[in-house]
Amino acid sequence: MITETNGVFHIQTGVYSYLFKINSYGIPEHIHFGAPVKTEDAFALSCRPGLGWGSNIVLNPDDTTSCLDTLALEWSGSGRGDYRESPLELAGKSSDFRYVGSKIREGSAPMACSLPQAHGDCQTLELTLEQSDARLILYYTAYPTALVRRAVLENTGSSPMVLNKLMSFCLDLPGTYTMATFNGGWIAEMRRQDVSVRGSKVVNESLTGSSSNRHNPGFLLFEADATEDAGRVYGFNLLYSGNHYAAAQQSLQGLTRIMQGINPSNFSKELAPGEKFETPEAVLCCSDRGFGGLSENMHTFVSDHVIPAYWRGRPRPVLYNSWEGCVFDFNQRRLLDLARRAKDLGCELFVLDDGWFGARNNDKAGLGDYTVNKKKLPEGMEGLSQHIQDMGLEFGLWFEPESVNPDSDLYRAHPGWALTDGFPEVQGRNQLLLDLTKAEVRDYIVENVSRILDSAKISYVKWDMNRHSIALGAKAHDFILGLYEVLGRIFGPRPEILLESCSSGGNRFDLGMLCFSPQVWASDDTDPIERLTIQEGLSYLYPQSTVGAHVSAAPHGQTLRQTPLSTRGNVAFFGCLGYELDLKQLLPVEIREIKAQIAFYKQYREVFQYGRFRRTELGWQVSDGKTTLAGVFHTLVHAAPGYEQLRVRGLKTDTMYRVTALSQAIRVGQFGGLLKHVSPVNVDPNGVLLRVVDRYFTLPEGTEELTASGAALGSGIMLRPLFRGTGYDQSQRTQGDFGSDVYLVEEIEG
Ligand code: GLA
Repeated sequence: MITETNGVFHIQTGVYSYLFKINSYGIPEHIHFGAPVKTEDAFALSCRPGLGWGSNIVLNPDDTTSCLDTLALEWSGSGRGDYRESPLELAGKSSDFRYVGSKIREGSAPMACSLPQAHGDCQTLELTLEQSDARLILYYTAYPTALVRRAVLENTGSSPMVLNKLMSFCLDLPGTYTMATFNGGWIAEMRRQDVSVRGSKVVNESLTGSSSNRHNPGFLLFEADATEDAGRVYGFNLLYSGNHYAAAQQSLQGLTRIMQGINPSNFSKELAPGEKFETPEAVLCCSDRGFGGLSENMHTFVSDHVIPAYWRGRPRPVLYNSWEGCVFDFNQRRLLDLARRAKDLGCELFVLDDGWFGARNNDKAGLGDYTVNKKKLPEGMEGLSQHIQDMGLEFGLWFEPESVNPDSDLYRAHPGWALTDGFPEVQGRNQLLLDLTKAEVRDYIVENVSRILDSAKISYVKWDMNRHSIALGAKAHDFILGLYEVLGRIFGPRPEILLESCSSGGNRFDLGMLCFSPQVWASDDTDPIERLTIQEGLSYLYPQSTVGAHVSAAPHGQTLRQTPLSTRGNVAFFGCLGYELDLKQLLPVEIREIKAQIAFYKQYREVFQYGRFRRTELGWQVSDGKTTLAGVFHTLVHAAPGYEQLRVRGLKTDTMYRVTALSQAIRVGQFGGLLKHVSPVNVDPNGVLLRVVDRYFTLPEGTEELTASGAALGSGIMLRPLFRGTGYDQSQRTQGDFGSDVYLVEEIEG
């Protein structure tokens, strides 16, 4: 509900209150963003400057409190005494916007450009501010667990103006915070890093042309005592896939100014008289229930209001992807053999990755030419997809439509379609970007991708993008607008196609892409131990249904690490499960284990994909209220490990629960020469016998089965001990490095 009472605006949901007032100078002053409060609390929650702070610029010489530099503001101009960073810059001009009116409407205010917007039930406050030659509208859209803000600037003067910066929002929060950002690079995405926000500015930005794997646009601000379960945490994110910028800085008065929007670096837009510029939507969330509460609010918002409505709550298929198994080396026979094996394992969707078109036999050629390679696929896409469908599998296809290899028919025909900056071209992965600011390029992509999609039975698309942009200033923004237009034109009329976006893994894991693609390939790094960091980083801001998570071969291509198949599965369960390895090379024991993994995941898929996610002491848990699944992950083992307690959150204290561990197999071969301690015959660790036995036989790890009350589980139940060097026995968890378990915690009826 949004109300206005004597100049005090109150945006209120069951989860948060956002309060600000229009002061006597027509300047919106921020009052509160946090737990729900009453409108009457406005005075008690407002900053009171008393006689002011001295030595400052004041709007009114008779009012020492009219110093903008010391007030908590909703927006700020420049040249009027507020020396903190301004969310708006007009070339060579100050700015001073004052309130002229407001409107409250049901729903959101539609945008005129192709930027994506959150959707669903909501209410919007439009706050209009003006100065002599421009109008600024600040939009506040209230969704149940998040507030969405954006700004629109209009040139109302008679001459052009140059806009160098326009943030989606600006906000001054009282208090001292630490900022958590999520940084990294290719195969190393989403590493949380914390930095204290005091007098020096802290900036989180991307300059690569995309939201980037270097610095995800989402970030958190939290108070020093915040934990997973308690304390104040704010979360911010942007529905945008281009260069982003966010800054936080604390003033002498203890106000922390926060802003987020399109990166102003090298950005400028000339606005003709009457012309407008719209920013992307920014998401603001808060919680007094710690990081866990914040993530819950963010997840709910993303699941209910960001991902395409058709896919809201819809189960995601278990997929097989051809990339890591085949790379570019395949033909129809090999693909159909893999599809048959994938089907036998329990997969539901077969995805043909890169290499199916033009001269795309490696990453040096063919990108841009979307004609099916008939040498590899003699029956075309229609024939291949039909065969796969006849097996009872759905079929999906990889595209990388925004890029072009110079060695391609497309580039030879239209060299001018590649994006250039006037300097000799520089390539990334042997490719250039197409100039999506050109209508004919957008039409080419829409026509070609649509043609392929309509030529076969395709229910899934992986939309990849593997090169960073070049510094193009405002054109980088126009490129992203072009991309959104293209995605809307292709997938708007085909909502039932499951779109998974990818950019060398998680180089574009952002809310802009999620408006079109319900899931994103989180990382080319499928090593489960690395995934613990990547998926946990994502979990702060993005629900698990958005995270593509695959089991691949070990040792891993990214780390050379050898990990148990069980752990690869257990980690990938907490996302949208897929398999990406050469199925022909699987051993009989691995086939058995994968079949069991897929069957288990399917049984609890809705909980894994849509349950409430929590980070815990030993790993992660998901829960739908009745069923909880808790993952316990180990990295390097220590000798003589102590007892381990599993705490399960969110259970009913008086209810009884059954706790079962997913049964796991132990590969005999992993014991090598140690087998002599248990085997009656002397087994050669390097001999044929052990190799053969290892293909077909496993040892049971033993299983956990106990009952406990919700109170006991919340307090922490004792798990079976870990292997201690005193022998193999099913009363303990026989796991070496990188072992893990998944516990099923179910309410006992009656
Ligand atoms: C990128 C993606 C991979 C795969 C390859 C294909 O690297 O991240 O998953 O699709 O491209 O070339």
